[in-house]
Amino acid sequence: MAVERTFSIIKPDATRRNLTGKVNAKIEEAGLRIIAQKRVRLTPIQAEGFYAVHRERPFYKDLCAFMCSGPVVLQILEGENAVARYREVMGATNPANAAPGTIRKEFAESIEANSVHGSDSAENAETEMAYFFEDREIVG
Ligand code: CMP
Repeated sequence: MAVERTFSIIKPDATRRNLTGKVNAKIEEAGLRIIAQKRVRLTPIQAEGFYAVHRERPFYKDLCAFMCSGPVVLQILEGENAVARYREVMGATNPANAAPGTIRKEFAESIEANSVHGSDSAENAETEMAYFFEDREIVG
């Protein structure tokens, strides 16, 4: 299987509860390597652009406001089959449906405040990585 990269966000509900290290431990225990990472506060423009694919969904406005409500940690993860692997480690979008041991099962507060985002395809991973990172910030 090929080594690939995926994009991750540790969301404001997790940074607020000081869970960055615990989330990163889950990522690293799963065999994924954090090859880029920065803690930032998203602007409304950045959040609205990032989630533009959900523009028509009823939760879009609240989601964008939530993503700007506190610090987030933007990351690029590298490893074998990284997109699918990270989705396994995160668990289902709704923590009520997430498997035991996953990040969302252990840490998420709700379907919106679900602690982490991860790309859903290799193609979207490329777009999402480029949205937030310059090449020189990625150290593989
Ligand atoms: P994420 O993986 O970041 O992608 C879109 C986000 O929308 C999702 O995680 C959730 O945080 C948020 N969201 C809020 N409500 C819903 C919903 N009903 N269905 C899917 N995603 C939702």
